[in-house]
Amino acid sequence: MRVLITAGPTYEPLDPVRFLGNHSTGKMGYALAEAFAAAGAEVALISGPTHLPDPSSPHILTTRVQTAAEMYAAAADAARLADVWVFAAAVADYRPAEVAAQKIKKSGERLTLELVKNVDIAFELGKTKRPEQFSVGFALETENEQAHALDKLERKKFDLIVLNSLRDAGAGFRHDTNQVTLLEADGRATAFGLKSKTSVALDIVGVVLDRLAARHV
Ligand code: CTP
Repeated sequence: MRVLITAGPTYEPLDPVRFLGNHSTGKMGYALAEAFAAAGAEVALISGPTHLPDPSSPHILTTRVQTAAEMYAAAADAARLADVWVFAAAVADYRPAEVAAQKIKKSGERLTLELVKNVDIAFELGKTKRPEQFSVGFALETENEQAHALDKLERKKFDLIVLNSLRDAGAGFRHDTNQVTLLEADGRATAFGLKSKTSVALDIVGVVLDRLAARHV
């Protein structure tokens, strides 16, 4: 089994020394890479900038990228060959319209940045998904959690979406723990308790392998 995983944040440059980014650590995506590799898969891990070392497993090939455009190019390459796609990255939705060649100097009291939309990696790859491929997305929501997550599942052609709510203490960014609910295209919902990201990864891999096995009986 071949698995594609996107992980971490993207950094969108503003000038040679500044970027727009977010607080994603990449821990959830890296834990999933380890869990899939431990289950016997060959993993292509496409990672934005993180402080984590490349996983040491010989079954995980890590590709480092900076921007959403670079992440898309690397993921598109791996997607064709992969049986399972996992979009765990916190991709910047917008990037600066222009990247200054030199450091932007301080001048007036206000500075307005113009941003343009980035590629939605999961959405674009979703258009190319073959019926036998299994796609997993993530949703971090603060309100109407299930409705927003199910909307993303449908739009991006996910088979399963991992919902974590920022309302749950200990879940999401900058924590070693996570509390998730898995929502599936057929309406199934499975809620898990607060646990380490390593345990959450094992739960997710367990459900994905179960659903793939069920397709073959
Ligand atoms: N995603 C992606 N590329 C993007 C944005 C999101 O691949 N440019 C993926 C994420 O990795 C995640 C899923 O899409 O698996 C949902 O991400 P999220 O940021 O919650 O969705 P958005 O479509 O950006 O919606 P929102 O308006 O809530 O930001």
